[in-house]
Amino acid sequence: MKKNLCLGFIGGGTNSTIGRMHYLASKLDNKWNLVSGFFSRNKKINLKSGDVYNVNKSRIYNSLNDFIKYESSQLDAVALLTPTPSHSKILKKLIKINIPIICEKPLINSKNQMNEVKSLFSNKNKLIRVTYNYTGYPILRELKKIIKKKKIGKIKQFFFYMPQNAFVKKTSSKIKPKIWRLNDTGYPNILGDLGSHLVQMCDFLIEKTPNKVLAKFFNHSNYKIVDNALITAKIEKDIFGQFVVSKTNPGISNGLELKIVGSKKTIFWKQIEPEKLVMFNLDGTKTILDRSSAVYEANKERYNRYKPGHPSGFLEAFANIYLDLANEIIFKKKNDYTFGLKSSQKISNFCDASIKSDKTGRWIKVK
Ligand SMILES: NC(=O)c1ccc[n+]([C@@H]2O[C@H](COP(=O)([O-])OP(=O)(O)OC[C@H]3O[C@@H](n4cnc5c(N)ncnc54)[C@H](O)[C@@H]3O)[C@@H](O)[C@H]2O)c1
Repeated sequence: MKKNLCLGFIGGGTNSTIGRMHYLASKLDNKWNLVSGFFSRNKKINLKSGDVYNVNKSRIYNSLNDFIKYESSQLDAVALLTPTPSHSKILKKLIKINIPIICEKPLINSKNQMNEVKSLFSNKNKLIRVTYNYTGYPILRELKKIIKKKKIGKIKQFFFYMPQNAFVKKTSSKIKPKIWRLNDTGYPNILGDLGSHLVQMCDFLIEKTPNKVLAKFFNHSNYKIVDNALITAKIEKDIFGQFVVSKTNPGISNGLELKIVGSKKTIFWKQIEPEKLVMFNLDGTKTILDRSSAVYEANKERYNRYKPGHPSGFLEAFANIYLDLANEIIFKKKNDYTFGLKSSQKISNFCDASIKSDKTGRWIKVK
């Protein structure tokens, strides 16, 4: 069996937020080699990125067309890491050449784009997967199993929060939001940027997505776009919850956290302590699970690159996704930890219903 898979990047240059993370995550378990890229439309950044990522100069391209022309037959997958508004145009080209695609979230930016990408992608196409990196945390995978085995009882309530300070940061005048993040054409940017993570986590953990939403969007910053959203949601008749996203929480870099209430236990997790799952029990006791005490998933060897008690975090969670993707491609078998068009369609439906609800002030059914 071939040992390492060959990966190419579109976008993800050293000037980007997420490129370096993909580079590092893909390398961690020695399943992928980043061998080529069109990392940036800026020639200097493109070359520098190839240099930093240790890519041979002859395989750094200055146009998407050249990248596709010379690389499509040589790669096991392409990672699409450009700003979200450019995804659909590039996806259309990649789908045509039928190469496995690993796309940063969210896949698309509007209902029309979702429909277009879906109509182009057929059973003959190899693979399209979207990286929802937070689902790579071992203890959340443990939680998924705990919920599936009904250890917390019947799910009654769910709360997913992602507050950040991106639009009110005062710490450095150099750190300004990228221009494409300040444009609400298509879905409000914050829904794709933060909201999509939360809906995906809900679907991943509970294996259900809301069927009705009541949404309200707000603007609290100087940027004239939606920068806060409060979305109350229902799953079935008596399961309710909330998604809250914000870019205007002073001092909070990333306050991702969740609470899930079951008939037997309440579960709490926050990303700042990603290895710890707190369970509140009916008798008032609290149980804390980590990799050393987990029983279904998080104790597996693949997550224990080093012993419990020695913190692992964001990079390792991202790397877990790359290992899942490699396994899927090598063994040609879908696993529970990679996400395709179906999950992006659910997120798109959730966004459509939320937009309609914000406009009308009414509960809206999610398709
Ligand atoms: N999973 C996460 O936690 C996470 C975090 C940040 C960003 N993202 C997602 O990753 C994607 C990229 O976001 P970002 O913040 O890194 O963007 P960015 O603007 O910081 O960087 C984009 C990179 O792509 C290059 N680029 C731009 N347009 C291009 C084109 N047409 N062709 C080739 N290269 C191009 C830029 O030079 C840059 O290197 C978005 O979809 C975003 O939602 C995900």
